[in-house]
Amino acid sequence: MSDPAATLDSRVEDLLRKLTLEEKAALLAGADGWTTVAIPRVGLPSIRMADGPNGYRSTQSEPSTAFPVGVAMGATWNPARVREAAAAMAREARASGVNILLGPNINIQRTPLGGRNFETYSEDPVLSGELALAFVEGVQGEGVGVSVKHFAANNQEHERLRGSSNVSERALREIYFPAFEKAVKQGDAWTVMAAYNRVNGIHASEHPWLLNQVLKREWGFGGVVISDWGATHSSAAVAAGLDMEMPGPAMHFGQRLVEAVGDGAVPSGAVDEAARRMLRLILRALHAGGQAEINTERHARIARSVAEEAVVLLKNDGILPLGAGRLGTIAVIGPNADEPIIQGSGSAHVIPFREVTPLDGLRALLGDRAALVHAPGTDNEPQVPLIDRRMLSPDRERTQQGLMATYYGNADFEGPAVREAVEPYLHKFGFHDAAAPIGRGAFSVRWQGWLWPERGGDYDFIVECSHRSDTWAEIRIDGVPVAGRSTEQEAFAHFEVVRMKRGKGRVRLEAGRAYRIEIDYSTRSDLMRIFKVGARKPAGTIEDAVAAASGADIALVFVGVSRSTDGEGFDRPDMELWGDQNALVEAVAAANPNIVVILQNGAPVTMPWLDKARALMTAWLPGQEGGHAVARVLAGEVNPSGRLPHTMPRRLEDNPTFVHYPGGRDAEYGEGVFVGYRYYDKAKIEPLFPFGFGLSYTTFGYAVPRGPEAVRQGDTFTVSVDVTNLGDRPGQEVVQLYIEQAAPTEARPLRELKGFRKVALAPGETRTVDFTVTPRDLSFYDVHLPGWRAEPGRFAAHFGGSSRDLPARHDFDLIEHAPEASSAA
Ligand code: BGC
Repeated sequence: MSDPAATLDSRVEDLLRKLTLEEKAALLAGADGWTTVAIPRVGLPSIRMADGPNGYRSTQSEPSTAFPVGVAMGATWNPARVREAAAAMAREARASGVNILLGPNINIQRTPLGGRNFETYSEDPVLSGELALAFVEGVQGEGVGVSVKHFAANNQEHERLRGSSNVSERALREIYFPAFEKAVKQGDAWTVMAAYNRVNGIHASEHPWLLNQVLKREWGFGGVVISDWGATHSSAAVAAGLDMEMPGPAMHFGQRLVEAVGDGAVPSGAVDEAARRMLRLILRALHAGGQAEINTERHARIARSVAEEAVVLLKNDGILPLGAGRLGTIAVIGPNADEPIIQGSGSAHVIPFREVTPLDGLRALLGDRAALVHAPGTDNEPQVPLIDRRMLSPDRERTQQGLMATYYGNADFEGPAVREAVEPYLHKFGFHDAAAPIGRGAFSVRWQGWLWPERGGDYDFIVECSHRSDTWAEIRIDGVPVAGRSTEQEAFAHFEVVRMKRGKGRVRLEAGRAYRIEIDYSTRSDLMRIFKVGARKPAGTIEDAVAAASGADIALVFVGVSRSTDGEGFDRPDMELWGDQNALVEAVAAANPNIVVILQNGAPVTMPWLDKARALMTAWLPGQEGGHAVARVLAGEVNPSGRLPHTMPRRLEDNPTFVHYPGGRDAEYGEGVFVGYRYYDKAKIEPLFPFGFGLSYTTFGYAVPRGPEAVRQGDTFTVSVDVTNLGDRPGQEVVQLYIEQAAPTEARPLRELKGFRKVALAPGETRTVDFTVTPRDLSFYDVHLPGWRAEPGRFAAHFGGSSRDLPARHDFDLIEHAPEASSAA
């Protein structure tokens, strides 16, 4: 039997010998936005990539399953759930002919304001690393490659394309690298994405120390380093370790790389090495086996189970769970109660094959046991949101949601249709280029049907498309243009990179009437096919919400972020809930003391009304099945087991990056290794809710832990603790292990998470949880060695259910061993 790895390598070498310099250089850039270059002369086909971290995101605007976002996966503290979800995303990618999924996004949540925090797992490297590994295993187990991103120190959106993250080597090694290291060393990630930002002055995509030294030499990375989209700045980047320029067609690699080799500016060996990696990736992708499946009930169930395990119960005086039997009248209040606030915006955005709002979930679960009264109360959208599919129908009978789309193979809506379909989701990121004329060049689309305003009043409409003069769009209602080419248009930058225009208009509509709606899109270009139709309904009023709450037995208030507050390309301006949401909670609490607040957020928010809420939970941005998950946790069908993957500070000023962020063009990582709880603990700042925290409908007890009294440098050993479910409901505890060095000679965090395990316990059940402690777990990174170093002395292993609730402790001595054993790699 031949060794498959050796066979692969020999096929790669064989192909490499056959390729000319021009062909190798061509292979190192994309053919277009999402595919690699094919080289038919040697029989090499192209492979395809797509985003992303919380679901396969079609580049043809096809629907797929929207899973909970990264921070929600982080809150599950459950690698098994993340592995399952990632495998499902990979099956959806496979079903769509995609070989590489551009995720996971495992950057560390450094500032609470980071625009893409929602995409990422945690402020902690161990939690991020375990979940990163699970994601990589889940995706690659289905024969699809990952792109672990964004390497490295890509922790904010402010100045994201040129700012330098100025950060110490120790902080990189201890905080920002470990999740990447794990994904590469243990997960064998097929690709890594080089970040937009610079690191200590040098572009991450052409940083020889980051890419060649650390990633490839030290960690033994054998895959492909892909640039973030538009992050390649020179041909010479290939010599620094960047293997592939994306998107294509080539700007710096390809022909210019051939010239750079000719001039002697780039050694041809660097091109060979990158081409070798590309060939290996392509062959691996073509020969990998896995399943194909998309938009199934099985995947929806996986999305729901992740959402359920992600819910973090932050406060509960006993009002939850709602319980069995008749529940009286429940007021379902807030701007998020009946809107699908399920994901963030940017490259992680997917078109969900369905969306369940909390009100939908409550109706399905409790509809026959409670009277549900809904009042949105206020608006929380800083920007006009995507038009609600429930307001649209292709026919007057309202048998379906959405509009009838007719596609034409020219820019003028002429001749026979090349495609016709009912489309509910009027947000396009690429069009269906399966229809030949749409693939390249001019085409046009007209959507037609009926618009059904829920409430009477002023509606704001927007339509967005490429800024190019050969592309335009327009919305007409009852034949009258309301937004687009014939109205006011403003320019803006999508994700901060793509130039777009937005037409806007306001119309007064009556409830209970059907309006004829037509939307046109026309283009003569094959670039930047991004398109979106938005409509803002008239906001609810706080008075209506108060009226609903005062007549109810309990008020559930759904507040938080909207579709546009957490996203790629911008950071959040502050930690406040947008608009009048705080006032809404206060007003409802005054009208009905039985108030439960359900937050949806991607990152910390302030909660000035916290003492008035009898219970509080966060559901994050929970994916398409989120409404069911929230309802099941409220009702007690699911016992909450999520834990905070980051600290929730009381106020922005308390966070460790406050004096440095946003700074100016560059980001100064002045807090060093004191990121997240490492800082709050050291500075003795009481957070609103600590890292690792979350309640259950049961409680857990910890026994006296066991472990060695003394260990020698270089030893790997086990510490154990017995955990018991003290209540009368089954539940899951996240058992966390933190290590403390009593008297370090270097500045070290008070204690650091070194392991965790989510355990399911029946009422009264006790389980022993074992943790393996490695030399690295006791070490800090000593830049003078250089290497990992554990100092002899007294240590403690703390066990518990949050970083600030550690009831069990085992002390031990670290004894000096041979000097060479003290550097544990
Ligand atoms: C994002 C990446 C993404 C890429 C492709 C970039 O703007 O930073 O995370 O994978 O676009 O969509």
